[in-house]
Amino acid sequence: MYKGILKFQGFQGQVDSQVVNLKPTQSILTSILDANIDMPYKCLVGTCLTCMCRIESGKTRYLIEVDNIISAEKIKLGYVLACQAIPESDLIICTTGCSGIYNRPNMRESVTYVD
Ligand code: FES
Repeated sequence: MYKGILKFQGFQGQVDSQVVNLKPTQSILTSILDANIDMPYKCLVGTCLTCMCRIESGKTRYLIEVDNIISAEKIKLGYVLACQAIPESDLIICTTGCSGIYNRPNMRESVTYVD
């Protein structure tokens, strides 16, 4: 079991955090949802980008090939699809409102990144 620190936008706009147990046998998203934390997702198969977040520290591996889904630039910056990423260490994970992820609509073409 790995430890995840989930950073997100708090009620009054501040960055808040919560600790979550990350199982090395399942996706980051599944562990987050298992902890009853509300995390946006839609397709669960790595196509909609709704679950995209950014790994601030730690290592992950993927269940699928994502090179044609996320740009090389975003991968380099640490963006991952939580529904397809498996933890390989403790992680610090930035979600909505953290590290410039302000908008997480369900449609790929309207995803907004602010770095
Ligand atoms: S839920 Fe659609 S890409 Fe993860």
